[in-house]
Amino acid sequence: MTDVGFNAETASTGAGRLHGERSTTVAVILAAGQGTRMRSALPKVLHEVLGRPLVHFPVLAALEAGVSRVVVVVGHGRDQVEASVRSVAPDAIFAVQSEQRGTADAVKAAVAHFGDARRVLILSGDVPGPTSATIAALLAAPGPGTSASPLTVVGFTAADPTGYGRLVTNADGGLLAIVEHKDAAKAGRTDILAETRCNAGIYLVERDLLSETLTRVAGDNAQGELYLTDVARFAAEAGRPGRVYLAGDAAEVEGVNDRAQLAQADARLRRRRNLELMRAGVTLLDPERIRVGFDVTVEADVVLGPDVTLTGRSTVASGASIGQGTVVKDSRIAGGAEILPYCVLDDADVGPRATVGPFAHLRPGTRLLEKAKVGNFVETKKTTLGRGAKASHLTYLGDCDVGEDSNIGAGTITCNYDGVNKHRTRIGARVFVGSNTELVAPCTLGDESVVGAGTTVTADVPAGALALSRAPQVNLDGWAARRGPFARKRARTASGQGEH
Ligand code: UD1
Ligand code: MG
Repeated sequence: MTDVGFNAETASTGAGRLHGERSTTVAVILAAGQGTRMRSALPKVLHEVLGRPLVHFPVLAALEAGVSRVVVVVGHGRDQVEASVRSVAPDAIFAVQSEQRGTADAVKAAVAHFGDARRVLILSGDVPGPTSATIAALLAAPGPGTSASPLTVVGFTAADPTGYGRLVTNADGGLLAIVEHKDAAKAGRTDILAETRCNAGIYLVERDLLSETLTRVAGDNAQGELYLTDVARFAAEAGRPGRVYLAGDAAEVEGVNDRAQLAQADARLRRRRNLELMRAGVTLLDPERIRVGFDVTVEADVVLGPDVTLTGRSTVASGASIGQGTVVKDSRIAGGAEILPYCVLDDADVGPRATVGPFAHLRPGTRLLEKAKVGNFVETKKTTLGRGAKASHLTYLGDCDVGEDSNIGAGTITCNYDGVNKHRTRIGARVFVGSNTELVAPCTLGDESVVGAGTTVTADVPAGALALSRAPQVNLDGWAARRGPFARKRARTASGQGEH
């Protein structure tokens, strides 16, 4: 029988995505365990790798590979896990395993949601590495649904196989059994313990074999758990042994059981992501120090400096550069924009050829239009800087619109908050705001107006006007020579009082 829903073409074009009508494979993601070795209040599968919770990886990979539906088995921290999965896979189905009695028991909880699927893809919620391409290849390879073998198990060769289930095969490579480490140790089977080919916890099973397994499985093992791995023995006993699909890269299928493995998985996926970016034409200066989240888009001919972090749904267009140590979240950076070192951007839009920093903080709602400039020690929030407008030094602009080519002097502060409400400041085009100015909102500065340095603006300024609020300067001739500090010190020395 040929399952037309899965072939290499479908996988690469994504034609079988989501609820592909032709596919008859259901994916089950095991994510009910607590993950005690993480020592965390957060369920293990919600710990993040490169900004993405562990459980999202198998869910998204399965969907992208084209399964007809995804069932996530939840238990420990189920509300949190469900909410998190729903945010990326609104159509995912949840099955509850109220007591964690083993991996076969977890699959049992999902059976009611299999629909008419003929094969079942089982993935672990704590293995973030497999790509959708690997899973698509597994689905397309001869195995359940396409050949005599009712079971394919993804295996890998472990540098240190301690703790993993070992793959026991016959001379033809047929899978006879999967033996858990603890059971091999208990039985004194050093031959099995010496085996380095391990079970990755990823399976493709014909539904009939799985149903039989779930009926027959018993917890007669070292851990007293219902092992899904017994499926291998049942298939072999029925004279139809499973096949092993050996992952080329062991790192791709290593699980996360503690914080050290979490850090390793993070480093691995960061490297993989950075390699993809470099191959796509992005220059990374010291790639080991750069973090780019999965939902970030970076175009060719972008330059990222060391220690740059890009997260959320940020986009960086061709020709932009981001300097060392800058952190960008959910922001859009246009072509040719230059972000200098050590800036923080959150939900900001940086227009074409605009410049930012060093040491600038663009908070949510900041929009810099073409060639606008925000310089060092400037903070902006809900603020638009028009084309060519500049705020070069030491400034706070909150709830503010600045027209094109206006210049905001050093030390300008919008007083946007009266302690209860926020108010807007509207600055027209080609306005010159002198240094150390306070703009008490709400206020409007008309086009081509000028504000003298040191002014506290409390009323609107008409177009073309000069606003000045500082007290007029008075010079008292000779005052300092007679009464200034140096004059007094000199007088004290002369009278022999010495210095204090
Ligand atoms: C399992 C395999 C082992 C394999 C290893 C690969 C079994 C018996 N052993 O061991 O052969 O080498 O994965 O990483 O399957 N889970 C539930 N409900 C449960 C128990 C587990 O949902 O009752 C989930 C966990 O949340 C986790 C996954 O299943 O995501 C695997 O469970 P875990 O306890 O980590 O199994 P391992 O000991 O790693
Ligand atoms: Mg595990």
